[in-house]
Amino acid sequence: MLSNPQTPIAPRDHFSSIVPNWAHLGPPLRPAPDDSAVVQRVVAGLGGAAHAVVLGLTPEIIACDWPADVQLSAVDHSPPMIQALWPPAKCPPQSEVILGNWCAMPFASDSIDLVAGDGCYVLQTYPDGYASLTQEVGRVLKPGGVFVSWDPNPFNPVILYRYLATPRSPNQFIFWPHKVLPLFKSSGLSASTKFFYARLPWTRNRFLGTCIGIVAHLHHKETHG
Ligand SMILES: C[S@@+](CC[C@H](N)C(=O)[O-])C[C@H]1O[C@@H](n2cnc3c(N)ncnc32)[C@H](O)[C@@H]1O
Repeated sequence: MLSNPQTPIAPRDHFSSIVPNWAHLGPPLRPAPDDSAVVQRVVAGLGGAAHAVVLGLTPEIIACDWPADVQLSAVDHSPPMIQALWPPAKCPPQSEVILGNWCAMPFASDSIDLVAGDGCYVLQTYPDGYASLTQEVGRVLKPGGVFVSWDPNPFNPVILYRYLATPRSPNQFIFWPHKVLPLFKSSGLSASTKFFYARLPWTRNRFLGTCIGIVAHLHHKETHG
């Protein structure tokens, strides 16, 4: 495991405390069976010798069918989660895990082809957390790079009820897509969102979709000076 000394480990991350029960979690905290198909579609378009970053350790993302020569870096700030989930059952040959914060990743600017994750924005405060994560994604991605992720859909009444009426951790928030889209734009990414539960096409709408997927492409970077 590589460590990233610049970034302290978040002190109150609830994932560290639920490690023993993690395997029993279901959607939307874990991907539904076909949700990772969203990432798989982007993975299938990667060029040769790509460097992909996974935000977190979600096995369903890491187990996608990656190109044989991909380099995969999974970034997570929770040592107990890393200990429990790394190495995963299926991952590309060149895979590493990095102990670090998604908002200050130890990668050079313009060096990453794909950043993928799930349940990432729902763990960020608004506006600061949303802005830090989006700017960092924009910094590390190369022009032509892609960000893909999904979060629970708060317009689905069941998801909203669960959030408001059942116990939740203090670092879990509601994901608001309209708040993140302008941030992508100011970081140079064109983003679109989609309601889905991949397996059931008739649920792909605002009120029945369990998740909101985001796909964002970095076309160009502002050059300063
Ligand atoms: C990607 S999320 C969503 C859960 C996911 N569906 C799964 O299957 O584990 C969970 C992970 O994010 C990590 N995490 C949360 N905020 C983070 C941050 N700012 N930087 C790095 N890792 C973070 C947690 O430690 C946890 O392992």
